[in-house]
Amino acid sequence: MSLRLLVTGANGFIGSALTEAALARGWEVTAAVRPNSDRTYLRDARLRFVHLPYHSLQALAETLHQQGRFDYVAHIAGTTKALRREDYFRVNADYTRHLAEVLSDDALRPSRFLFLSSLAALGPATAAERVRPDQPPAPVTAYGASKRAAEAYLEALTGRLPWVVVQPTAVFGPRDRDLFQFIQLVSRGLELYIGRTPQRASFIYVSDLVALMLAALESGPSGRKFIAADGRDYTTDDLGEAVRTALGRRTLRLRLPLAGVRAVATLSELVGRWQGKMPALNREKLRELGGANWHCDISETAYYLSFRPEYDLYRGMEETVKWYRQHGWL
Ligand SMILES: NC(=O)c1ccc[n+]([C@@H]2O[C@H](COP(=O)([O-])OP(=O)(O)OC[C@H]3O[C@@H](n4cnc5c(N)ncnc54)[C@H](OP(=O)(O)O)[C@@H]3O)[C@@H](O)[C@H]2O)c1
Repeated sequence: MSLRLLVTGANGFIGSALTEAALARGWEVTAAVRPNSDRTYLRDARLRFVHLPYHSLQALAETLHQQGRFDYVAHIAGTTKALRREDYFRVNADYTRHLAEVLSDDALRPSRFLFLSSLAALGPATAAERVRPDQPPAPVTAYGASKRAAEAYLEALTGRLPWVVVQPTAVFGPRDRDLFQFIQLVSRGLELYIGRTPQRASFIYVSDLVALMLAALESGPSGRKFIAADGRDYTTDDLGEAVRTALGRRTLRLRLPLAGVRAVATLSELVGRWQGKMPALNREKLRELGGANWHCDISETAYYLSFRPEYDLYRGMEETVKWYRQHGWL
């Protein structure tokens, strides 16, 4: 009998990459997606599908009892661009709590429940040079606070559900639409940076994150949180260089003053609210980008999950740009 994995958010950038890797291992994968979710990356005939009504404990329990017990559950669905603080908390925190509650039932309990949180739940490095897993969480955005709230729900379920939390820094790779916006701009010859000094940043290539998640599901000690990054210290200038090199492009580099960008972000957010869609550049995003230090310490992840990233930013970016070109995005 093959192992049964339930992946929420399976159609998204990270969810679809995990889904493919699990299928390649011969696991039976059930993709939890919404009726209107784009299934472009979920064409494999072996896939099963389910729609989970996260908002209702009772409806969720009924649906999951119909599915039967899964060996592993990877809860990846989440919102990164909500219009209101309460939307972040409803989707990222309440839905996670509902799912975890239902799965802590004796008949449904998986051997691992992986919650894909974010480094934003810890917040940037403060006193130390790098974000550490044991630093007191101090998220600087509603998004980060909502992920932190979900983690706290799981902590309260310790003993009833074998959970593991993965906290990725910025993830990039094929199919990603967020960092792609910067890459697209560079491909047009323009590099825009926020603030006068380069920001301290960290990254992880999507296939390394997938390998880390599989290790966490299969052998990660339960009740622990793992920072996911490639372990190298970068700046936003390194990101520009990696993209420029991968594209083989000369660019015009501009450093925009923080105050000016804040004004633009406020304006684009107002337009976004009116259109019912949060733009990529908003005030929340600026709180993460505006000079915070996102270097992070992955020594515990390396130790407990035997995690050895295969890609650094430069090698990962070459693969990513190749994919965007092959698929006509660039
Ligand atoms: N990308 C990063 O750099 C990064 C870093 C740290 C953490 N994360 C976390 O990783 C997860 C996946 O992110 P991603 O980059 O793969 O983003 P993505 O491509 O936008 O995928 C998000 C997934 O969540 C689903 N989702 C969003 N709102 C939902 C809702 N209200 N109900 C049910 N499903 C919902 C989406 O379904 P639809 O397609 O139907 O909207 C999609 O499947 C998120 O939880 C995010 O917080 C991402």
